[in-house]
Amino acid sequence: MEDVVKKNMQNWDDYSDAYLRFKHDERNIEKVMQNPSAAFEKGTWEQIACWVGDLKGKKVCVPSSGDNLAVFAFAKMGAEVTSCDISQRQLDAGKRVAQKLGLDIGFLQTDTMTLDGLADDAFDLVYTSNGVHVWLNDLDKMYQNVHRILKKGGKYIMCDVHPFQRPFGENLRVIKPYWEVGPYEDNYNITYTWRIQDIMNAMSKSGLRFLNMEEMHDEKDYEYPFWLPLEDAVNGVKVAKEEVDRMYDWRQNPSMALPQWMCIVCEK
Ligand SMILES: C[S@@+](CC[C@H](N)C(=O)[O-])C[C@H]1O[C@@H](n2cnc3c(N)ncnc32)[C@H](O)[C@@H]1O
Repeated sequence: MEDVVKKNMQNWDDYSDAYLRFKHDERNIEKVMQNPSAAFEKGTWEQIACWVGDLKGKKVCVPSSGDNLAVFAFAKMGAEVTSCDISQRQLDAGKRVAQKLGLDIGFLQTDTMTLDGLADDAFDLVYTSNGVHVWLNDLDKMYQNVHRILKKGGKYIMCDVHPFQRPFGENLRVIKPYWEVGPYEDNYNITYTWRIQDIMNAMSKSGLRFLNMEEMHDEKDYEYPFWLPLEDAVNGVKVAKEEVDRMYDWRQNPSMALPQWMCIVCEK
């Protein structure tokens, strides 16, 4: 296993319990079970609905599945889902929730850049969610394998932090040039801030055919506004409506003038 994968895996194993404490809170899981599309940014859900349609019986793979909220949502909608992650602790936590919910889901420990253990030409949909690319050092390898495991005509859909967010810190202070992509190493992790060209060129080289891209803002959400810690949102802490309106208005909060998420759809 490469050093970058080993180090990030160890960190996610160590961090998993704290990370999932509120993500796997019964109230948060219930929200996804009541309305599975709540596991996705609105624009991403629209792309899944548009390009994949009814998920019943579809074979879906979710590499770097993390909190597994998308995995639970796909399974609830009737898909046959394989959840993959490098952290066994994250997978074990997902397995416990799936058992409680009575959802039949496959869990596999594998590196998203190799997808070892997954058959060729097997899936109707491969989906990666927010916060996946930042941990990966070889996007060419990742996309070769995403292409490998998709059926002919199968879709790859990704949503992740928009790379235009990366050069900026608080109050839009520039903290790095767009083209510096890492590696950034600290005591815990090794990360990368890939550009749009790094992601799209890797997709194209793999043989995936580009279908559509959406550049999105956070949808205004009075219940779960983006800056409210999940713990508070799950505990029902309310933020004043005027404060939410102000924070989502780019004239008052200029960071809202940048796209926050991007969603790309490809086909094999
Ligand atoms: C922030 S989560 C992303 C998924 C989800 N959107 C979430 O918010 O939980 C990142 C996940 O990537 C996993 N990960 C990091 N490097 C990986 C690798 N090389 N292969 C597979 N999974 C990896 C981590 O274990 C973690 O569960």
